[in-house]
Amino acid sequence: MCGIIGYAGGGRNQEVLDVLLTGLSGLEYRGYDSAGIALADEAVSVYKREGELENLEALLKETDVPSTPVGIGHTRWSTHGPPSDRNAHPHTDDGATVAVVHNGIIENYERLREELSELGCTFESDTDTEVVPHLIRHYVDEGLDEEGAFRKAVSKLEGSYAIAAVFRGSETIYATRQDSPLVLGLGEGGNYLASDVPAFIQYTDRVIYLEDGQFAVLTDDEITVTDGDGQVLEPPVKRIEWDAEDAGKSGYDHYMLKEINEQPRSLRQCLRGRVDELEGDVTTEELDELPEPARVQFVACGTSYHAALYGELTLRERGVKAQTFMASEYDRASVPIDDETLVIGVTQSGETADTLRALRQAERAGATTLAVTNVVGSSASRECDYTMYIRAGPEIGVAATKTFASQQTALTLLADAIRDAEHRELLGALRDLPDHVQSILDGSNAREIAAEYENAGAYFFIGRGYNYPVALEGALKMKEITYKHAEGFAAGELKHGPLALVTEETPIFAVVTGDDERATKTIGNVKEVEARGAPVVAVTDGQSDVERYADHVLSVPETHDRVGPILANVQLQLVSYWLANRLDRSIDKPRNLAKSVTVE
Ligand code: M6R
Repeated sequence: MCGIIGYAGGGRNQEVLDVLLTGLSGLEYRGYDSAGIALADEAVSVYKREGELENLEALLKETDVPSTPVGIGHTRWSTHGPPSDRNAHPHTDDGATVAVVHNGIIENYERLREELSELGCTFESDTDTEVVPHLIRHYVDEGLDEEGAFRKAVSKLEGSYAIAAVFRGSETIYATRQDSPLVLGLGEGGNYLASDVPAFIQYTDRVIYLEDGQFAVLTDDEITVTDGDGQVLEPPVKRIEWDAEDAGKSGYDHYMLKEINEQPRSLRQCLRGRVDELEGDVTTEELDELPEPARVQFVACGTSYHAALYGELTLRERGVKAQTFMASEYDRASVPIDDETLVIGVTQSGETADTLRALRQAERAGATTLAVTNVVGSSASRECDYTMYIRAGPEIGVAATKTFASQQTALTLLADAIRDAEHRELLGALRDLPDHVQSILDGSNAREIAAEYENAGAYFFIGRGYNYPVALEGALKMKEITYKHAEGFAAGELKHGPLALVTEETPIFAVVTGDDERATKTIGNVKEVEARGAPVVAVTDGQSDVERYADHVLSVPETHDRVGPILANVQLQLVSYWLANRLDRSIDKPRNLAKSVTVE
């Protein structure tokens, strides 16, 4: 799971270098273990550095970099070999006649490496990728032209890949994909390719999403797409509906804070045209033809898994048989999957390898598949029978924030497309949701709470029912960006083991919205931790009397019991953000992580 950028820009000037560096900064969320570029002209010049992009930029500043008509770049999330200059992409053959960048995993690389070594190739890195330039060179030496050698080399690869290559003495980029994203950008006087649109959105909004098994050849004035047999295709050109500003930080210190603050807007977008509160109707045209399933299975990872748990509850409440699976465990789930099963992949990026694999398994078993995703043209949206977009806009911070709220909201609407229910009050609460989020953003005391508990040993989050996924998500956000130990529990589970961890040093964030039996029971659990000396932060809409037992309160507006948890989560996002900020963490690019996980 890395970021790839390529630009064929014609004239020999600074432009190619600028485009590559801009592209890499727009892709750093995909990996930041190292960054590198290859500039191709009469020679192929490679510059790369371990660490974040700024290290590469520093190197380039002190180097006399040639102006070239074409170049490729890469930002890495390590799979084979630790982060280092040596393992950074691009990789070349002996003599640097061809340079390659790659996202994904080449499963048969060890055998290829042995064969190529026997042929005399020298390997410089620990990566799987390095076999690719050597293979391409091998076929060039056998007499194939650039494109022929590229295609033949790719035909020998097993695994997942998006690959781009440039050659010495050539002004062309060759690219292909299999189970890893690659999008082409059609510019004026130059053409682009990248793992994701933010890499080149400031230059063009006209894109082609390359499909698995397709090849692209880019020059400054032409993009040719062919299938595996070399047949020229005419893929649709799509327009991106957001712009460079949407993908920028807009004055915020971090993308994460910007994206937390964007939630009123992204929720409005999610709801727009879908809710008719007066008629009591939800309109999801994209799901009009969805057959009523006998059962629903959600597959998802991380934050999206927490949203899926929330979605499962909304369906169960309507009497639909629904289950949620971590996508990476779905192949061992031993559950019936047939043509009466609807399998819903919840995935912000639409590119998460575990989720795609689970969806493909479902499809093979005859299930109907549905993607709930944020990214138009993503693999999930292209492969599933149905797609519902959450319309959150680009999310760059590695920590998912606004997309979680939009997933919860979209899944609330989706429940309607699966089974109707009387829900006028719920629709009213959804109408008010963006304003309610805004009022939390305007008045939150999360920053003070973060300061109060900066030095805690561990942080625990508890909730019941719809607040259980929120507790899990609160803990995930906390550990992901603060690097502090945090766990989320179903409130009732605490006494079955985790209570042993509770001390005066472990603040408990208790998510209690509404005033039903679940709230009463969670308050019972709050008393249990209080009795053990733990400080309690109640996240509450004030309907219950949990405040009486809490040391601090994070308030949310009173609303429908389905919507309160969406609001509670916003407060928890802010606590994690401000705590990470105090600890001076790398908030947008937490260590060891990447936004889009395209390996299993
Ligand atoms: O793109 P996806 O929603 O499929 O990503 C799944 C997880 O990798 C993701 O939700 C991850 O847990 C979050 N970035 C954590 O904040």
